Amino acid sequence: MNRIRNIIENKKYIRCIKKNEKGEKNRIYCKHTLEHFVDTARIAYIISLEKGLNIDKEIIYASALLHDIGKWKQYESGIPHEIASSAIAKTILLECDFNSEEISLITEAIDNHRTKVENPFDLNGILALADKLSRNCFYCTVKGKCNWNDEKKNTSIYF
Ligand SMILES: [Fe+2]
Ligand SMILES: [Fe+2]
Repeated sequence: MNRIRNIIENKKYIRCIKKNEKGEKNRIYCKHTLEHFVDTARIAYIISLEKGLNIDKEIIYASALLHDIGKWKQYESGIPHEIASSAIAKTILLECDFNSEEISLITEAIDNHRTKVENPFDLNGILALADKLSRNCFYCTVKGKCNWNDEKKNTSIYF
């Protein structure tokens, strides 16, 4: 997990986390913090292990740690955050020794993390699934106002 350490110590990465925090200071709904990224990484990895998917652990963690890294840009300019995050992820991954094939895999999963899960057995699928399952809707005080429909909300802990 050396390259994961590279990501969490990367200056650009830390700057973006702080920008997300600042952009969401008054947000009442789920935030896009380091905690959310780590929750998503761990859940995606558990899903991968349970399903015997054999997806590289660093690839899973890199995808999850970066999937919302550009959320602040959505607040600033309206650009969809999966597009902003994917572009920022690419520059960080290059600085953290990921090769071009790995970067393509990871940025594709980030690009697709808001779409409906088509295949829950690949990186795209487990990232999108873990992202949603990381949210504790069952304990949320503003769930009545949230734009997630009831079907999307988590009513229990699965992982
Ligand atoms: Fe997201
Ligand atoms: Fe997310």
